[in-house]
Amino acid sequence: MRIAVLSGAGISAESGVPTFRDDKTGLWAKYDPYELSSTDGWQSHPERVWAWYLWRHHLVERVQPNDGHRAVAAWQDYADVTVITQNVDNLHERAGSTTVHHLHGSLFEFWCDTCGSRFHGPLPDMPEPELEKMPPQCDICGGLIRPGIVWFGEQLPDEPWQAAVEAAATADVLVVVGTSAVVYPAAGLPEVALAQGVIVVEVNPEQTPLSGTATLSIRESASTALPRLLPQLPELLAN
Ligand code: APR
Repeated sequence: MRIAVLSGAGISAESGVPTFRDDKTGLWAKYDPYELSSTDGWQSHPERVWAWYLWRHHLVERVQPNDGHRAVAAWQDYADVTVITQNVDNLHERAGSTTVHHLHGSLFEFWCDTCGSRFHGPLPDMPEPELEKMPPQCDICGGLIRPGIVWFGEQLPDEPWQAAVEAAATADVLVVVGTSAVVYPAAGLPEVALAQGVIVVEVNPEQTPLSGTATLSIRESASTALPRLLPQLPELLAN
């Protein structure tokens, strides 16, 4: 059986990874999320954008994958599993998933904004959130080092996107978990799958634009629903 998983912020929320919308520190609440995650924001305030992502990088290092991430990894013992994630954390990998495509980049990759060289650290520590910190400079050209995140105004990287379309279109089941299913192009993947006759299972405590068209919509949290999902799939596939 081939399972594709499209995950979003909701699966990591239970591990304590905050989104812009629920930043518990309140420190960044005064900023428009666009300012912190766009090329415009980076160009006008690199020290602000760098501080935000450096803090999130260290924060993610301190949290653990939850039962939702672990269930997805455990499916690999029974199925061919491809994870497509909009999340920039590494919790799927740390739970043991081996094929993970990051559509929106990663908090664990950095490169030079000027010459594109990879930056391998060391990264400054940030035990407490700070609102401003100047990014390190590239050893090769002196340019500023930026996080490997796909910002508003940037194109999705081609390789993970192509892999995601292929996985969604050729799976037996696409599990869509923890995403509001409104941010395109990722939100188009369930449509690609449905058009190919792939069974689409949504896991989300809230209703989304996908809920009406998904084959099955499970109104539960990821950590509750995913560990119970695998035994239900053969019956879904048979119908
Ligand atoms: N289990 C499953 N789903 C959950 C849980 C949970 N425990 N908690 C919340 N959710 C759901 C919410 O109901 C919501 O529908 O997760 C979804 C999170 O939605 P968003 O915050 O919009 O996250 P996401 O869909 O990943 O956002 C897509 O938008 O902010 C940009 O680039 C960023 O990758 C992100 C993209």
